[in-house]
Amino acid sequence: MFYDIRKSQPIKVLVTGAAGQIAYSLLYSVAKGDVFGPDQPLVLVMLDITPMMNVLDGVLMELQDCAHPLLREVISTDKEEVAFKDIDVAILVGSMPRKEGMERKDLLKANVKIFKSQGAALDKYAKKTVKVLVVGNPANTNCLIASKSAPSIPKENFSCLTRLDHNRAKAQIALKVGVTAKDVKNVIIWGNHSSTQYPDVNHAKVKVQGKDVGVYEAVKNDNWLKGDFIQTVQQRGAAVIKARKLSSAMSAAKAICDHVRDIWFGTPEGEFISMGVISDGNSYAVPEDLIYSFPVVIKNKTWKFVEGLPINDFSREKMDATAKELTEERETAVEFLSCA
Ligand code: NAI
Repeated sequence: MFYDIRKSQPIKVLVTGAAGQIAYSLLYSVAKGDVFGPDQPLVLVMLDITPMMNVLDGVLMELQDCAHPLLREVISTDKEEVAFKDIDVAILVGSMPRKEGMERKDLLKANVKIFKSQGAALDKYAKKTVKVLVVGNPANTNCLIASKSAPSIPKENFSCLTRLDHNRAKAQIALKVGVTAKDVKNVIIWGNHSSTQYPDVNHAKVKVQGKDVGVYEAVKNDNWLKGDFIQTVQQRGAAVIKARKLSSAMSAAKAICDHVRDIWFGTPEGEFISMGVISDGNSYAVPEDLIYSFPVVIKNKTWKFVEGLPINDFSREKMDATAKELTEERETAVEFLSCA
């Protein structure tokens, strides 16, 4: 029997910041079927701010010119009530970038305003089953604000992107051991998508000559693993900006695809991935009510914490430091929430 994609129901996917550089790679991959599969028709919705509508027209033309068979419709808009209407998935990439001389507090304030408004739009217009991924920085706290502003949507439907950090950690280990990234699994990014994040390889495995071994055993260089490796992953975003004069875009788009595909189809058996999700106060002694990056497994579009991993003192200290930063960010953001 033939499966006819023309007969199946399209899903509606929103990408914000659609005129920006991450979206330029992301929209192509989503439209091609890399995320929701080759049989899933799509309605793509692109939101950006009014001054970017001309640029967005160009992106729209290019998407049409790709002639992707899965695309049923592409909507470009600067209006939240249009963008968030009946969506199944929201990928919130657009945010206020840090400008020269801008204090971190000012950046938070500008973003609280955006994510409060988009959270309220999710609450009002989106499907209650909508899955929301926040990418725009500061991603964890923006995600928390969006979730708090959308009380009718389950908190578990919100996540923020730390998959790029996760992929960076995998890639560094693979390069060091001389295997491919596919041979490395179960690295963890704990905490904030910032330089306080903690890339943890204590539970990760590398396939060497067909056998899964621990990373410490495979790398045989504890100093590197406890020093340069962690710093390289923490500082990778800054290193890319320094070299490219632009922030990571291709790799960010790829990580978004990995993240959303895992939400949609589940994580492979025996593997876990990292994403920023709401803390419940019980898992790994992370304070409650933070969007903190944890190891999770996903099944039936629902994530679960990977429980019971032993945490040594070295890890504990780093996990607490990034939790402290997130707690401070939350406090500042919540202050702004009432006046945004
Ligand atoms: P960009 O500056 O090229 O594009 C951002 C787009 O968002 C612009 O077109 C802008 O007009 C739009 N925008 C601003 N406010 C908006 C609003 N209220 N509604 C809709 N659109 C809005 O930036 P790029 O490189 O695409 O990065 C986007 C964000 O992703 C940045 O905040 C960046 O820091 C973040 N990022 C996060 C990563 C992560 O791992 N969590 C990795 C890489 C980037």
